[in-house]
Amino acid sequence: MQISTMVLPTGSTKKRKLPLPSTTADHDDDDTNENPPSDPTKSHVDGEAISSSSSSDDDESHKHDEHEPAAPPPPAPPSPKPPNPYDQIKRTIVINDGKRESLIRLIGLKSLFAKQLPKMPKEYIARLVFDRRHKSLALLSGDPRKKFTDEEIIGGICYRSYPDMRFAEIAFCAVSASQQVKGYGTKLMNLLKMHAVTEGIEYMITYADNYAIGYFKKQGFTKAIQMPKARYQGLIKDYDGGTLMECYIHPSIDFTRIPQMVQAQKEFILQRIRATSKSDKVIYPPLPPEFAKRMESSSRSTGAAARALAVPGVIEAGWTMSDLMASTGGAKDADQKKDMLKKELLSLVQKVQEKQFSWCFRDPVDTNEVTDYLEVVKDPIDLRTMEKRVRKGDHYKSKHQLYADMMKMVNNCKIYNDPESTYHECAVSLEKFLATLFPLKSGEPSIE
Ligand code: COA
Repeated sequence: MQISTMVLPTGSTKKRKLPLPSTTADHDDDDTNENPPSDPTKSHVDGEAISSSSSSDDDESHKHDEHEPAAPPPPAPPSPKPPNPYDQIKRTIVINDGKRESLIRLIGLKSLFAKQLPKMPKEYIARLVFDRRHKSLALLSGDPRKKFTDEEIIGGICYRSYPDMRFAEIAFCAVSASQQVKGYGTKLMNLLKMHAVTEGIEYMITYADNYAIGYFKKQGFTKAIQMPKARYQGLIKDYDGGTLMECYIHPSIDFTRIPQMVQAQKEFILQRIRATSKSDKVIYPPLPPEFAKRMESSSRSTGAAARALAVPGVIEAGWTMSDLMASTGGAKDADQKKDMLKKELLSLVQKVQEKQFSWCFRDPVDTNEVTDYLEVVKDPIDLRTMEKRVRKGDHYKSKHQLYADMMKMVNNCKIYNDPESTYHECAVSLEKFLATLFPLKSGEPSIE
C-alpha cells in the first residue's frame, strides 16, 4: 500500500480470454459471460437418443450371434453444472473514467476504505482510488434502493496493474463492517484473481499490515516472494510496518469453484486407488471364533506376535516373528526399559558433572597438550564421552557398566597424576561420591 512513482507503458503481453464473471443484475456494467450455461435439458435429450438407438442395434445383433460381447453402455448424459454461488454476486470494475456512476462508486469505495482502514490517511486513499492508473473491483449490494449511494458498495479492492511486468499491486481491500465474516472477503479476492488473469497478471502483491496478514494468507498469499525482484523493484515503494506478500495466479484455475475442484481431485484420486487397491479382495475367510481361544496358551512375551503370525496370510505377506515382535507389546516393553535406563544413567552422569570436583573430568584430556598421556593411560575416558554414550542409547546395558567407566576415569587420574596434585584430590573426592551414587547391593559383584 504505497504511492507508485513510475508510470510504465500499458498493454498486456499475455491475455487470457476470461472476462470478469458477469453480474447478474447490474446490467449497466460491461461484463459479459463467454461461457453461457450449457442447456442440461438438451444434453439429456441427446443422451437419450444415443441410448435408444444403440440399444435397438444391440437387440438385433443378439439375434444373430449370442456370443458376441455386448456393446459398451452409452455414455451417461452430462450432468448439469451445479449453480455457481458467485453468479449471484453483483460486482463491477470501477475506474475513474469521469462518468457520474463511476465517480459515485469511487466515492463509495473511498468512504469504505477510509472507514475500514482508519490508520490510513484519507487524502492518500482518495488519491489512489481516484488515480486513473488504479482500478477497483467493487462488490455491490443487490438492493436497488442503495444503487449509487455509499451503501451500495459492500466490499472493494483497489489495485494497480503493471501489465508489462505481469503483476498487480493491491493498495486497499475492505468489506463493510456489517458484511464482514460472511465470506465476502474471500469472494472479492477470488473474483479479482479471475479478473486479473484477463489483464495478463501472473502475480498479485501487497504490503499487508500485521492485522491483515492472516486474511491474505487465507487467500493464498505468502511472505516468500517468487516473482523476480527486477519485475517490481522501482515500481512499488516500501511500506513501513507492512509485510510484502505475494500470490501467484494460476491462469487455468477457476477461483470461483475451488471447493468443487478439490472435491473432483479427491474423487479422481479415490477412483485411481480403488482401481489398483486389493484391500477389498477376500483371499482368506474371517477367523473362526475359537481362534483366539486356541492362541491363549502362547507365552506372554511373544503372545501378540505369535497370534498375529498365526493369522492366515500374514506369513505369506512376508512378516516374520522378529518383525512382529518389533511392532508389538514385547518390543515396546523392551523399549520402555531401555528408555528408563537411559534416563537414569543420564541423571547419574549429570549429578557427577554438577559436582565442583568433577571439573577435570568433564572433557577428554587434550593429548596435543598432554603429549605423554596416552603412553600412561591406555583407555582414556571422561564425562562428556560417557554422556554421549548414554544418549546414543546402546552402549551401557546397566548401571553397573556406567559405574565401571566412572571408576576407570578415577583410576586413570590417580595413575597419571602425582598423589599430592589437585587432580589426584579430585579423583579421591569423586570416588567417595561414586560410592554414594552407586551403593552396592548385597549379592552384587564388587567392581574393581
Ligand atoms: N486475520 C486473520 N484471518 C482473517 C482476518 C484477519 N484480519 N480477516 C478475515 N480472516 C479470515 C476469516 O476468518 C476467514 O477464514 P476461513 O475462510 O477459514 O473462515 C477468511 O479470512 C476470509 O473471511 P471472509 O469472511 O471472507 O472475510 P471478510 O469478509 O471478513 O473480509 C477483510 C476480510 C480483511 C477484507 C475485512 O475484515 C476488512 O475489511 N477488514 C478491515 C480492512 C482490512 O484490514 N483490510 C486488509 C488490508 S488492506
